[in-house]
Amino acid sequence: MTVSTGMPHPVHHTPGGVPTHWYNVVADLAGYVPQERRPAQRAGSHALRPQLPLSIYRQSVSNEPFIDIPAEVRAEYERWRPTPLVRAHRLERMLRTPARIYYKYEGASPSGSHKLNSAIAQAYYYKKAGVRELVTGTGAGQWGTALAMACTAYDMACTVFMVRCSYDQKPQRRLLMELNGARVIPSPSVTTKAGTSIVADDPECAGSLSVASSEAHEYANEGDGVRYSAGSGDNHVLLHQTVIGQEALAQLEALGDYPDTVVAALGAGSNFAGLTMPFYRDSVTTGRRARLVAVEPKSCPKLTRGVYTWDHHDALGNTPMSKMYTLGHRFIPSPIHAGGLRYHGAAPVISWMYHEGLVDAVAYGQRAVFEAGAAFARAEQVIPAPESAHAIRHVIDRAERARETNTPETILFNLSGHGLMDLGSYEKWMQGLLEEDSVADAEVERALASLSRPAGE
Ligand SMILES: Cc1ncc(COP(=O)(O)O)c(C=O)c1O
Repeated sequence: MTVSTGMPHPVHHTPGGVPTHWYNVVADLAGYVPQERRPAQRAGSHALRPQLPLSIYRQSVSNEPFIDIPAEVRAEYERWRPTPLVRAHRLERMLRTPARIYYKYEGASPSGSHKLNSAIAQAYYYKKAGVRELVTGTGAGQWGTALAMACTAYDMACTVFMVRCSYDQKPQRRLLMELNGARVIPSPSVTTKAGTSIVADDPECAGSLSVASSEAHEYANEGDGVRYSAGSGDNHVLLHQTVIGQEALAQLEALGDYPDTVVAALGAGSNFAGLTMPFYRDSVTTGRRARLVAVEPKSCPKLTRGVYTWDHHDALGNTPMSKMYTLGHRFIPSPIHAGGLRYHGAAPVISWMYHEGLVDAVAYGQRAVFEAGAAFARAEQVIPAPESAHAIRHVIDRAERARETNTPETILFNLSGHGLMDLGSYEKWMQGLLEEDSVADAEVERALASLSRPAGE
């Protein structure tokens, strides 16, 4: 590990431009970020055994600002990193904006999104700890695909509980995971007690990441040599994604530019943290300050409308609790097409920073998001994943404001994944068949009302 020098961003890249360390923002936060706590066990609930190997656990509680990336993991990263930093000239021209728009293209990874950055790291550590199989939950399938690929690389089995509405909307995603050797189960399923109880209550349940997580935790708990691997939210996952922002800082520096605004979509937070936290570090060490904006769907607006409180990560409430912005672990959002953003809570670290006013958040409805994604695709000929299109919506809004006020602004965003597996959703949008956001609004209202009710009512 590298010891903090308190100096500006140290040179932490290989000659090829790949970071040699992950950046741990916890070290730079002037305050106490509440840690996990285990609730008293309820009758009938599972006592979950610890899932993290010591190596990852140490990362998740570390106070060191920089943590070595093992040479083996770096060698894997070098297959596709550094990812391109692209100036969106055509989009700028299309919007007739004085803003300079850059995007970091994580869709260039073999799995098609940023998720492989943590999947490779986790598979490496779990394999070293003697784990035979990893299990997880996935929304749109980007995390499941990445974990399936990483497990293949490290010769481990992989089981993925995939949110049922995404499983139905994106059959090719399932196929991609299966091609990479994973077993994919639509969630809620009847293969676990958790899933069976949820299906008994609601046979039409569309699923959610917290439901898939309940199933995956139960599966891990009962299997021999099986562990649960988290796709977002936890400190170590945020940490692994910081290769994105460190590269972007260096790439912009080489171009002599610096962003006023840095934008990324927020599911549970690893994508947002991955791009923005190295810029937070930069603000602490150099005083340069960029506005950091998380973009979430109106149908799952945990930061912009949720409550900052202790909550579980899974639907049945078996996992330890974290303090986070949440819509409640039982919240099942409507089956929107940005499935990777359908998670009820935001990462504890990001929640704390939002609470302290260190990061901003905005929310958009899915029609406006697809409109932005399609405009970007026409301008730049890169089809963004619906999750990434959330960031693009905000970027376009800012660029248009820059045009109206004639103020140049430099904007950086994360194009976290390509949308080639999401063409079915774009087709629905083109045909005018995307669901109304008002349905989602009503669901959010109901969730918030039940959160504010005293327990037992
Ligand atoms: C392409 C893409 N972008 C962004 C996200 C949000 O990711 P996170 O939960 O890491 O914030 C996801 C989640 O699945 C995704 O697939």
